[in-house]
Amino acid sequence: MAFTLNVNGAPHVIEPGEGEEDIPLLYVLRDHLRLNGAKYGCGVGQCGACTVLRDGAPVRSCLVPAVSLQGRALTTLEGLRAPDGTLHALQRAFLAEQAGQCAYCIPGMIMSAAGLLRQKRSPTEADIRTALDANLCRCGSHNRIVRAVQRAAAELAE
Ligand code: FES
Repeated sequence: MAFTLNVNGAPHVIEPGEGEEDIPLLYVLRDHLRLNGAKYGCGVGQCGACTVLRDGAPVRSCLVPAVSLQGRALTTLEGLRAPDGTLHALQRAFLAEQAGQCAYCIPGMIMSAAGLLRQKRSPTEADIRTALDANLCRCGSHNRIVRAVQRAAAELAE
């Protein structure tokens, strides 16, 4: 049965295929809407690569049935940009700090950081590390990632 999701400020009618009634949001984003910012890492809520925002708060899109998100405001990495395509301060900061090595984790890191900065405009380093604690990076780029979030927070606070 078709349902509607609000993704990045626009309504999208989703028509799940047979046997897809409980399809997780991640698959709807990537396969139905062609929004590939959210990544498939583990598929079981352990890595954070699939993180998006639900009503401004980070959520693991691999775990949540898409149909349960009707009426919620969903934001993906693609939705952080301004309408004219200008990158969000976090996206610019991650580039400036060269925070990605393989970069597979970076979309999830940025979305978790975006959730933090919505809650707290001037987070401490401890706040940042706590907010990103459940986002895994196998390359060990954590210090650059933290610096990138600090850079973005400083820019947004100006
Ligand atoms: Fe969702 Fe790993 S893919 S938490």
